[in-house]
Amino acid sequence: STKAELKYEGKAKRVYATADPEQYLVEYKDEATAFNAQKRGSWAGKGATNNAIAAALYPKLEGAGIPTHFVAKLSDTEQLVKAVTIVPVEVITRNVAAGSFAKKLGLEEGTPLPRPVVEYCYKSDALGDPLINTDTAVALGWASEGDMARIRELTLQVNAFLTPFFLERGIRLIDFKLEFGKLPSGQIVLADEISPDTCRFWDAETNEKMDKDRFRRDLGGVEEAYGEMLRRVLS
Ligand code: C5P
Repeated sequence: STKAELKYEGKAKRVYATADPEQYLVEYKDEATAFNAQKRGSWAGKGATNNAIAAALYPKLEGAGIPTHFVAKLSDTEQLVKAVTIVPVEVITRNVAAGSFAKKLGLEEGTPLPRPVVEYCYKSDALGDPLINTDTAVALGWASEGDMARIRELTLQVNAFLTPFFLERGIRLIDFKLEFGKLPSGQIVLADEISPDTCRFWDAETNEKMDKDRFRRDLGGVEEAYGEMLRRVLS
């Protein structure tokens, strides 16, 4: 499938139409942004690493009964996915208080949560991804009540699969962001990516950060951490 029209360009990916109207091509870029694109960077191999991580995880999630948009890895930086309409809601799951959640609630980063917390944000760069709830998404016509219930159910299933998957590989899954899409049939499927850009991963022994916080917080060793995460996922 050759790339046709560019459908969407995000901060870390480009999405192209293909000759098949039911499939899109996703290209992972080397660019990284943080704090709503106020901080920018890039490093060679980032796109390939994230593509490889997502391409390894999606089939495993499918195996666990979670429908995803993933079709096939095409090259180092490209994958073929099912064409979906993205629900403009970023779904964040938290197992341990970190980042914006720790800050806004005055919790020490690293405080374990006795149950997962699912949060929703409106996917809007212009507005800085504001926190919303299910009522907001339904009232503004982004998803139905049923869609939102399904999104929450799938999100908790993803967490229940990934938390032990990573722990077996020496990684604590602190929090992560998911996006969902709708197929023409109306079925909700997991879309977007799962990578160190969209998850917080802490080494289970040292609590060392193995994710985009190394870039956000100028901790150094960003490429090495992403590479190590790929090795663990493939192990
Ligand atoms: O910044 P915050 O603590 O709210 O982020 C929670 C989780 O969601 C982190 O794993 C972060 O990488 C991810 N996230 C994301 N894209 C955003 C906001 C957060 O992938 N726009």
